Amino acid sequence: MSSPQSASPQSSLTVINHPLVDHKITLLRDVNTGAGEFRSLCQEVTLLTAYEALRALPTETVTVETPLTTTDAKQLAGPAPAVVGILRAGLIMVEAILTLIPNAKVGHIGLYRDPDTHLPVEYYRKFPIDIERREVILVDPMLATGGSAVAAIEHLKEAGVKSLRMIAIVGCPEGVAAVHGPHPDVPITVAALDPKLNDSAYIVPGLGDAGDRIYGTK
Ligand code: PRP
Ligand code: URA
Repeated sequence: MSSPQSASPQSSLTVINHPLVDHKITLLRDVNTGAGEFRSLCQEVTLLTAYEALRALPTETVTVETPLTTTDAKQLAGPAPAVVGILRAGLIMVEAILTLIPNAKVGHIGLYRDPDTHLPVEYYRKFPIDIERREVILVDPMLATGGSAVAAIEHLKEAGVKSLRMIAIVGCPEGVAAVHGPHPDVPITVAALDPKLNDSAYIVPGLGDAGDRIYGTK
């Protein structure tokens, strides 16, 4: 008989279902939304999505002195989390999460999708030296084929990371399945889950190329 400890991890997908998030996602989808507004919206959606995604961060009880008394209160346990952004587009989400967790450490993985194969090509990687001790928050606005996310997760696990979750702005069933197949232990939280990929491996309806829209490069 399998005990809860030995059971294989349960895949977890959370889709934010909230009027404010829906409204901001609609503005992100709009082809007429310019780069400045697009960047602000990505940061706002990241904050609202992270609020839900980080519910399970471990806490510990400490004693704090208020102006009136001394009381037990909760704080984040252990060393500060590490936020890992997949370049380029993930950078905008890293900046947003740093406003919530200012003492977080930051890691980067540089990946771009080969335009023909749609497979991720790595060009940079730098993690905090003790990342294996930290809760890790992997961020990338788009979870399309899932190739970039899986490559990043594999590198993080090779580095010894044991507790890791992913936050994306828009995902699709193909990307979620690609991650949860090999990595059912990685919870995924998305602000929106779209129906499918097109023949060029773009999410439809989606919001286009997130990196290009954030940085105005197209
Ligand atoms: C985009 C996006 C993800 C990746 C998702 O990056 O930011 O990293 O595509 O696609 P996948 O799930 O099929 O791997 P892109 O390659 O366009 O690079 P960029 O962020 O530098 O624009
Ligand atoms: N990368 C993007 O930026 N958008 C998509 O729809 C798919 C991959």
